[in-house]
Formats: sequence, structure tokens, C-alpha cells
Amino acid sequence: MNPHIPIFELKNVTKQFGNFQSLTNINLQIYPGERVALVGSSGAGKSTLISLLNGSLQPTQGEVWVLGRNLAHLRPKSLRQVQRQIGTIYQQFHLVDNLRVIHNINAGHLGRWSFFKAAASLIYPLEVETAFKALTQVGIPEKLYERTDRLSGGQQQRVAIARILVQDPAAILADEPISSLDPERSREVMNLLRFLSENTGKTLVTSLHAIEYARSHFQRIIGLRQGQVLFNAPVEEVSAEMVEELYRI
Ligand SMILES: Nc1ncnc2c1ncn2[C@@H]1O[C@H](COP(=O)(O)OP(=O)(O)O)[C@@H](O)[C@H]1O
Ligand SMILES: [Mg+2]
Repeated sequence: MNPHIPIFELKNVTKQFGNFQSLTNINLQIYPGERVALVGSSGAGKSTLISLLNGSLQPTQGEVWVLGRNLAHLRPKSLRQVQRQIGTIYQQFHLVDNLRVIHNINAGHLGRWSFFKAAASLIYPLEVETAFKALTQVGIPEKLYERTDRLSGGQQQRVAIARILVQDPAAILADEPISSLDPERSREVMNLLRFLSENTGKTLVTSLHAIEYARSHFQRIIGLRQGQVLFNAPVEEVSAEMVEELYRI
């Protein structure tokens, strides 16, 4: 991966839902290996931005470039190839509750596996080794055959992270990954995300409601307010005044 080509680039991006403008004129670049926090109040446009970055939403105006490709110009097959390089973690984990952990982790292969291989694996799990290794990396190897809905919220978010490790994308997007966890579990999950990003060199873009973890776990903070970028700066340049302005009602 060329370190000088942004892994994500938004050029003058506006996103409207009907008459409502969720994002206005966003310009930003995120480079390989960076850890960037996306911070702002509820409704600021964080989830919309994450969905534009992984191609699940298209901009109303402007361009979204991922790994040097303009998503709007890609044929479906190339688009899927680019999307396979982006792993997304959500607030509500997005796991299948009544499946065993191993199946949820193996869903990380879905971009690569044929339908039949994926279906067969539901009956007789393939790649047990890989799943076990990923689960070990997130600290709960003993849960491999547990039913997913028997796990705590923090453990389920670890399973979601293990699934991303199996997918092995170039970049990880996390949309408020800790907002449904208690403080202790939040700290563990944020430490884990930072550790994985540091150790694998994967780009990490995480939206967060509050600023504290942005300061302690990321190199750069993008402050979103009412659909606009209020600031985009290295952590050490983000002042208390800037943060106050970000959350001003
Ligand atoms: N699918 C949608 N349809 C209509 N409005 C939406 C949709 N998604 C988001 N919005 C609106 O866009 C704004 C930004 O939402 P969102 O990106 O979810 O903010 P955040 O994640 O920062 O809380 C909100 O006012 C929200 O109601
Ligand atoms: Mg959101």
C-alpha cells in the first residue's frame, strides 16, 4: 500500500436524505496506518460519514475515494473488492445471535468464500484454526463454540472484532463501538482496537460520542458539528475551547 495515497478521501462531499442535509461539503484525507477519531454529538453525521467511507451510502454530491479508487466509477465486482478491504464494527455488534461464535467469526470470510462453502461451513465449521486464533487475539478463546447471545456485550463486541481480524481488511471502521458498553468494558474494547491497529498497521477510524477516548487512543481528531467539519487536527492541537464549541447547544 502506497503510504502517500490516502486510504480514504472525501472531496466536497454532501449527503442529503430528502430535504435534510446530513453532511455538508466534507473534505478529508485519511492515510494508511492512521488512527483517527470522529467525534461529535448525536446527529452530527458520524454514522453517515462511516457509511460513506465503506460504500454502503453514496454521496449526493462530491466524491468518495477509497484505496485510490473513486467508488462511483467502480463496477460492482471492483466495488466489492474495495469493500472487502474495509471492515466495519457497529454499536450493536451486528452479529447473528442464535449462531455459535465460530460461525459469526467465519462470516469474516464471506467476501471470499463461495455461497456453497459458506453454507457448508454452517453445518461443519471450516477454518476452525483461523477462527480460534482470532478469538485468542481478542482474549476469549474459550468462547469458540458458545452461542453468541449467551455472551456479554463486551464479549460480543470482541467477537465482532475477531470477525474483522478474519476478514483481514486494510482499514477498520468502528461506529460508536463502545456506546452500549459499561465503562470497564469500553476501556477494554478501546484498548483492544488500538492494540490491533498498532500491531497490524491497519488504519482505524472510530466514531465516538465523547472526546475522552479520542484523546487517549487516537492520533488525530475530526470534530463534526451539524454535518460539517469543525476541526481536523492532531490530538495535541485540539484545545478545550475547540471541544466546547463542538458540543455547544
Ligand atoms: N437514512 C436516513 N434518513 C433520514 N435522515 C437520516 C438518515 N440517516 C441519518 N439521518 C439524519 O442525518 C443526521 C445525522 O445522522 P447520523 O449520521 O446518524 O449522526 P450521528 O451518527 O452523529 O448521531 C441526523 O439528523 C439523522 O436524523
Ligand atoms: Mg451514529
